[in-house]
Parts: sequence; structure tokens; C-alpha cells
Amino acid sequence: EKAGYPHFMLKEIYEQPKAYRDTMNSRLSEKRDRVILPEITMSDEEIRSIRNIQIVACGTAYHAGLVGKMVIERMLRLPVETDVASEYRYRDPLVSRRTLTIVVSQSGETADTLAAMREAKSKGAHVLAITNVVGSTVAREADDVLVTWAGPEIAVASTKAYTSQLIAFYLLGLYMAQVRGSVKQEEIEQTIGAMQSLPEQVESILEQAESIQSYAEQIAVHNNLFFIGRGPDYLVAQEGSLKLKEISYIHSEAYAAGELKHGTLALIEDNVPVIALVTQPALAEKTVSNIKEVKARGGNVLGITCEDSAELQSEFDHTLFIPRTLDMLMPALSVIPLQLISYYASLARGNDVDKPRNLAKSVTVE
Ligand code: M6R
Repeated sequence: EKAGYPHFMLKEIYEQPKAYRDTMNSRLSEKRDRVILPEITMSDEEIRSIRNIQIVACGTAYHAGLVGKMVIERMLRLPVETDVASEYRYRDPLVSRRTLTIVVSQSGETADTLAAMREAKSKGAHVLAITNVVGSTVAREADDVLVTWAGPEIAVASTKAYTSQLIAFYLLGLYMAQVRGSVKQEEIEQTIGAMQSLPEQVESILEQAESIQSYAEQIAVHNNLFFIGRGPDYLVAQEGSLKLKEISYIHSEAYAAGELKHGTLALIEDNVPVIALVTQPALAEKTVSNIKEVKARGGNVLGITCEDSAELQSEFDHTLFIPRTLDMLMPALSVIPLQLISYYASLARGNDVDKPRNLAKSVTVE
């Protein structure tokens, strides 16, 4: 059932191009100029009347929700908050009948996510679920459901579920933007076009697995590591850090690159590995200056950047080039090497990759 792969996680990483296509293709118009979501029951009028959006989820799904916030704020120019589901209730969230609450859950059974969803519903929000399991509790209780067609995810570490949640957010953002007229038609078509190239671009990253493995083997002997980035790169850094901790047991932290010098830089000493994501042209210069600060203290930097940014290579100790897409879509590509780094670091440490210690695939207690 692992289809020849040594672990479910690796199989699921390699299934991502298909998961992107399956989640996306049936939801694009024939001319590929519009997103169609017939499953959404919210009327156009209801979509137009939304005043604020709240996203709630746990773990990796929460990290997808961080990207969702960025996407929806950019496309709809509406305020979006993303909360860890277990914390959501404690701040007595401000919900009205014009609030859309989006719950994100691969399994659709996570206790904290369910509790947050019930809280939002009881306060009058319209609840839309992004889930991978048709008929799950979250799917049954939500007002609207957007299914991610990633197929069953067996490994505890979530990979294809996260990336298909990103695709779901891109689709949902575009769909609501069409209804609200907040994004120009030209830009909608450009985004759809770029999204359609993602599966092939993921494949080209997967072809670099061997060099990613050799980097992962080098960091596997370390006990501390940092991920840094700005904007969308910081959001992906957080997911990369969780993945690494979860299966390799290497302690890591994700930092907004600009925050480093406010304390954490004190931890950088000789040979501490730092993985820097630099995929956003408008933010690259600033991240590079943070990288210089890290290197001046002896840090060993892997730069993950785009193929068209060869000039950045001299700033890094190791470089991984990935294809370029629209800034907003970059997380759907830049997370792939991070998944592979975690996988190969876990493997090098002799861990049980698919079943990391102390963790369960579906967390049904609060
Ligand atoms: O099934 P869910 O998406 O609700 O699960 C949420 C988290 O428990 C899950 O994403 C967890 O963080 C993963 N093991 C991370 O890889």
C-alpha cells in the first residue's frame, strides 16, 4: 500500500502534484478563466456582506490558515484573523452574523478545531470547513464544505493535506473575489494560469531530492536549528519548523527574519544551521541583510530561493533553487524542500518517520 515507497510520508510528498490537480481542476471553468465552487451554498449576497473572516485550525492546518489569511486579505481586502483552535475560545472572539469562520482540518475530527467551530457557530458566524475527509464531524457540522482532494493521508506528519489546503485557500480567495469584484479579471486569469503550472513545478523540486537528502544528513547531527523568512516565506518557515521537530526531534524555531536581532540572534554561534527562505523579490534585500548578521556570527545558511535569483547564491553556504511563481503562490512550492529535509533528517536519525513518538494522526482530545 506504500506503492514501493519506504514510508507513507515519502509517498504522500510525491503525491502532491496529483493532489494539487485533483483539488484544483474540477473547480476551474472550461476556459480556465474563473473558479467555480458549486458546493458553496453561501449566496453571492451573503459573500458580499461578509465583514470579517476568522480562520481556526491546529498544527499544520493552522499554518495553512496563516497563508489563507494572507491570500484572503490580499484578494478581498477584508480583515482576517487566524487563530490556533485551542486558543480561540479564550479571547471571547468578536463574531457577528457577517463573520465567516473558516475551519481547516485534514481529518475533520480534531477536538480543539471542533470546539472552536461550535463556538463560532453559536455566536452566529457562517462556518466553512476545508477538510480532507468527506463525512467527517467537521464536514457534517459546517454550513459549507470545501473538500481537499488529497486522498488519504496516513503519515502522522502532514504534507499533501497542507499543500492541498493552500490550493483550497487560493480557490476560495479567487471565488469570493470574483463575487465581490475585488480582483480584476485579468489577475484572476493570471493566478489560475500560474496555479496550473504548480504541479509540474513541484515535480521539478522533487527531482532535487538527492541533494536535499545530503543537506538533511548534514543537519541531522545538530540539536538546534533556525528557519527564517519574511512575509509568505515566514509563514512557510513555521510549517517547516514544525515538520522538522515532529519527525526528526531536532529542536528548531521559525523566526520572522527581522525579529532575529531582537533576541534570538544571541543563539547563533559557530555552525548553527539556519534555513533561510528568500522567494519574495520585494523582501529579498532585507532578508539578505539578516542572513549577513547570521553569517557574521558563524551560522551556516541554506538559502532557498528562486531559479532567477542566481545572484543571491554568494550570500549562502548552501543553495537550493526552486521555480518561481506568483509571490502569493510561492508557499505551495517552497514548503516542498522543507518537507523533504524533515523526512531525510528523520531517516538519518533512525526515527520512525511515519509514527513519531508521542503523537497521533488525529487528536481527538482537547
Ligand atoms: O486533522 P487536522 O488537520 O485537524 O490535524 C491538525 C494537526 O493535529 C496536524 O496538522 C498536526 O499538526 C500534524 N501532525 C503536523 O504534521
